Amino acid sequence: MVQPDLFTAQQAGPGAAAPTPAGRAAWLRAELNRHGHAYYVLDQPTIPDAEYDLLFRELQELEQAHPELASPDSPTRRVGAAPLAQFAQVTHTVPMLSINNGFSDDDVLAFDRRVRETLKEIDEVDYAAELKFDGLAINLRYENGVLVRAATRGDGATGEDVTVNIRTVRSICLRLQTDNPPQVLDVRGEVMMYKADFARLNARQREAGQREFVNPRNAAAGSLRQLDSRITAQRSLRFFAYGIGSLEGAEMPASHAALLDWYVSLGVPVCAERAVVRGAQGLLAFYRDIGQRRAALPWDIDGVVYKVNDLAQQQKLGFVSRAPRFAMAHKFPAEEATTLVQDIGVQVGRTGAITPVARLAPVFVGGVTVTNATLHNEDEVRRKDIRIGDTVIVRRAGDVIPEVVAHVPERRPADARQFVMPSSCPVCGSPIVRPEEEAIARCSGGWMKCAAQRKGGLLHFVSRRAMDVEGLGDQLVEQLVDKNLIATPADLYKLGLVALAELDRMADKSAQNVLDALEKSKSTTLARFIYALGIRHVGESTAKELARHFGRIDELMQASDERLLQVADIGPVVARSVRSFFDDPLNIELIEQLRAAGVHWPDAEPMAMAAPKPLHGKIFVLTGTLPTMARDQAAALIEAAGGKVSGSVSKKTSYVVAGEEAGSKLAKAQELGVTVLDEDGLKQLLRE
Ligand code: IVH
Repeated sequence: MVQPDLFTAQQAGPGAAAPTPAGRAAWLRAELNRHGHAYYVLDQPTIPDAEYDLLFRELQELEQAHPELASPDSPTRRVGAAPLAQFAQVTHTVPMLSINNGFSDDDVLAFDRRVRETLKEIDEVDYAAELKFDGLAINLRYENGVLVRAATRGDGATGEDVTVNIRTVRSICLRLQTDNPPQVLDVRGEVMMYKADFARLNARQREAGQREFVNPRNAAAGSLRQLDSRITAQRSLRFFAYGIGSLEGAEMPASHAALLDWYVSLGVPVCAERAVVRGAQGLLAFYRDIGQRRAALPWDIDGVVYKVNDLAQQQKLGFVSRAPRFAMAHKFPAEEATTLVQDIGVQVGRTGAITPVARLAPVFVGGVTVTNATLHNEDEVRRKDIRIGDTVIVRRAGDVIPEVVAHVPERRPADARQFVMPSSCPVCGSPIVRPEEEAIARCSGGWMKCAAQRKGGLLHFVSRRAMDVEGLGDQLVEQLVDKNLIATPADLYKLGLVALAELDRMADKSAQNVLDALEKSKSTTLARFIYALGIRHVGESTAKELARHFGRIDELMQASDERLLQVADIGPVVARSVRSFFDDPLNIELIEQLRAAGVHWPDAEPMAMAAPKPLHGKIFVLTGTLPTMARDQAAALIEAAGGKVSGSVSKKTSYVVAGEEAGSKLAKAQELGVTVLDEDGLKQLLRE
């Protein structure tokens, strides 16, 4: 790829003698575009962020000093511009059509049959299969290689001019990577938001006390249709191309697959999840493959799209009303649906955590019928303002627990009722407590009193990633606890064949299988054993770290807070939780009993004590501009000294480091009484 700019550019590059401003600007643009493409499209960064920023700022200053150098393909346009009063209307040269939907295998077979009937004399058709992205359709017009206009689909005939907003989308090239671009090229595709970016955006919205978005699609739409494009610039939108409108001054590729390959060569982002497949069986295989991987994809899709690959064949097939006969969208079961909240109850987890659960009118979502959906915790119920009687959006993606996303305000009845956290545990009657600072209310009964906690703890103990006792599921544990046959994990290893065989749905054979599985589970690893104990805040990876660090259970049981804090990734909260678990004599007895029952693992040597790092366990928040240090620099120094850097101020924050123009975070720190440092104060701490 050689751009005309680059020529002047190289001469004007570092080391060249006194480049002209125009030459230098051209070089900077080419460089920035090249690095941006490597980063946002190829996912292969070529320079550190800081260096990119330097080049960027230089170009910005140069363009400010020489307004005549401004150009529509300058990366400086990516930061957005002054707000618009309204979007201008754009008439699409070639209308943006919709696409027919299918839901079943039969729909696919019928589609393929119709295609073959129309094309005649073709036994098996080649199809381009791709994802159906759940975002917004957009048309990008490139004239002589430069992005000149971007328009939403609108009603298909006219859309809105969102050019300034689209320029902020980093992966969309402002200039095509070719020496002889077509005079006109309308690239069509989808603008969307990745799931991770959506989660980060909502976390930010929440922190700022602003409305959260319901799903990535709405977030993408809301971000793109911003009259203030500087907001769009902060929203991490993405784009994938999947079609074409007008083309002038270049030959149309022969197939859809060739069109997308051409796009890739021009620097236009195209999703790699695509294939050319043969016949209806090829389509169905593609559908199943993507269906299995749907939840793991970084973005939401609502189906796959099939297009006859050969463009000549596409033309022959033509259109019916507003949809092409050569294409079909094969939809997946919706991951979201609306239904009625009939009641809000609570569930008691293994640590006693009380989770509000919406009892729903049965609804088919994510491929199953859902009647319960988690509301996570009391604050979440308030924040989302979910009431009994509300119509709500329910989401179930992949195998995750169904959750209530939001309520539909227009459909709230006058008698909708607020959820009230019960004061006592519905299972054991012990008081429910919610320590200040914590989001979670808990049953205070502990596993001695509360059967729900016993069941949860036992199920966790036998689970696959813990002791891995095969065949000991919900229903068995339920019966064992309800019949008082077991109370602690150690009791599991005392179970006999007769007692087990007498339970519902058990026979001698299945009972013996459970006993064999229990016997097998006795030989384990220290990491699994620690995880199985169900210490609060100790998940699988923390358990592994603890095992690696201490090597032997006795070392861990005796470890002080300071010693625990030396373990990678363990902060004060986890350390305290581990310490208090082993301070409880009941837990010590449990471990003794398990060892006496024959549970064993290979021991290892404990790791040597390292000198503690000076800022270990301290949480910092940086705000404003520091006099000499960039924020990244300050963060790196803090982390190197063992501290952590967080984005928001809470009571857990140890220090707020404030520079010039510090805003709400400084105010929050003062309100909470968190120590505030300036740059010198931070340096002082780092020296200590
Ligand atoms: S093709 C002539 N391909 O689905 C066919 N559409 O079409 C025009 N969509 O709003 C559309 N992924 O935004 C096509 N791979 C894909 C797509 C796709 C998502 C959207 C598109 C449009 C809707 C219906």
